[in-house]
Amino acid sequence: MNIEWDKLGFGFMPTKSNIRFHYENGAWSEGVLTSSFDINMSVAANVFHYGQAIFEGMKAFRCKDGTIRVFRPDANARRINSSARQLLMPEFPEDKFVEAVKTVVADNADYVPPFGCGGSLYIRPVMFGSTPQMGVGPSKAYELIIMVMPVGAYYKNGIKPVDAMVSRDFDRAAPHGTGHIKAAGNYAASLLSSKVAKDNHCPVALFLDPGSHTYIDEFGTSNFLAITKDGKYVTSLSESILPSITNDSLLTVAADLGMPVERRKVRVEELADFAEVAACGTAVVITPVSRIFDGDKVYDYHCTEIGPVLKKLYDRMTGIQYGEYPDTHNWTVVVK
Ligand SMILES: Cc1ncc(COP(=O)(O)O)c(C=O)c1O
Repeated sequence: MNIEWDKLGFGFMPTKSNIRFHYENGAWSEGVLTSSFDINMSVAANVFHYGQAIFEGMKAFRCKDGTIRVFRPDANARRINSSARQLLMPEFPEDKFVEAVKTVVADNADYVPPFGCGGSLYIRPVMFGSTPQMGVGPSKAYELIIMVMPVGAYYKNGIKPVDAMVSRDFDRAAPHGTGHIKAAGNYAASLLSSKVAKDNHCPVALFLDPGSHTYIDEFGTSNFLAITKDGKYVTSLSESILPSITNDSLLTVAADLGMPVERRKVRVEELADFAEVAACGTAVVITPVSRIFDGDKVYDYHCTEIGPVLKKLYDRMTGIQYGEYPDTHNWTVVVK
């Protein structure tokens, strides 16, 4: 194993092992650590045709004191079960999920990037229906596989603000649909909008509420957050967005720092009033947004680097993740 930690990106890389569970006849098996990253499955498996597939994403960090800590795996355990319920898939016991995450991270400890390089171990659980079937309906058998891979600091030369484009021609989710869960199909549905945004030199697409296209929902793979000119933390309230664990944590951190916080409907026109705007999620924590294009309109935040309030939130949050700041909310789980 010879990894150049400073050169890591966000690509797939096989590691020592993944952990696998199989569900059949109403029960989950015990987990098995496996070195292969391939699966052997029928072409007729449910997942290929009827799309019973959900996933999660979280990270483990090598901390200043040498320990490895996973950030809020219990929240991911709850969220995968919320996704499972919506797609008629079996829930997985939450304590067993956290144990499985710890087991696979411990087995792959050599792949957790060293403290100080800005990298982390990305943890990707995926659950899917594996029964061969032709009729539409839920699968009888399921697989839960948790894989891990080292990833670098998302932005190599520090956090750089990005441009965003409002997606007016496509929605990523339907009203009363599956936008609030981490279903694989949501991401397939957002690929075209993301391509349109990228073709217009915007790395991210911003989606509106699919019912009225009046309010801001979220970015393709991250929640929307804004800082008002009087220093409030504002984030979208919508039934069609994914409840981001990063956003939930940042809201808490903001409140800890004495900032007023608001989770509410945000009208598109309000984009003109904010001091700082960002996308937030596990991959980068906070990505500042410099401009938002909406047809002929441009909302310009005139920033070439992360704004002062977002920076404070980012530093506190990553300080907790890397064990440099006290974890007063007991978010991190130490891997032995
Ligand atoms: C659609 C969407 N929204 C928000 C997020 C951010 O969620 P989290 O902070 O839990 O990573 C993600 C990433 O998981 C996502 O895919």
